Amino acid sequence: MPIKRIFMAGIGVFLCSTLNICLAKEVAKTEEKSDLAKLYEKIDKHYKTVEELSGYYKYNDSDWDTISGASDNIIKLSRIIINKFSRPEDIKYEELNKAMLKEAEKMHAVAENKYEEGALEDIQWQVRKLQQTCAVCHKHLGIQVNSSDKKD
Ligand code: HEC
Repeated sequence: MPIKRIFMAGIGVFLCSTLNICLAKEVAKTEEKSDLAKLYEKIDKHYKTVEELSGYYKYNDSDWDTISGASDNIIKLSRIIINKFSRPEDIKYEELNKAMLKEAEKMHAVAENKYEEGALEDIQWQVRKLQQTCAVCHKHLGIQVNSSDKKD
């Protein structure tokens, strides 16, 4: 009898450790994925803020501050993605993240010169240019993330 018990206990230990290794791997996988997803999720939040404002026909100072802050955040988040989540094997992905950064930088520059003629139109233009980088990259990767991709 003891032999059988030892044997059963052995199987138990074996199964538990295998299961734990599997679970640990699964968790690691989803965490790795969500780190990048979390960054894009934050970008999305800031993008939606400026997108909403782009429907206005006049901005007050607080709107300009919002645009300046949101574009600044997109710049910072894009830089993190470019530095920490590079995919050297996917040149298009690399280029599109840089394009996103560039369009956010332009948007920020417009907001910093809010008194210049045509600044409001320039923001509206930049929102569209920025949105294109999102849509093109998601399409390139074959992922569908949200409704903002389906515009024009
Ligand atoms: C260069 C490619 C690229 C660009 C540019 C890009 N994305 Fe994404 N996006 C991704 C990838 C890759 C994922 C999936 C990340 C994952 O699940 O690991 C993603 C995921 C998302 C998600 C889902 C996040 C979640 O909660 O799972 C949203 C929302 C999103 N992107 C919005 C945007 C917006 C808005 C822009 C533009 C301002 C943008 N993305 C630009 C590649 C890109």
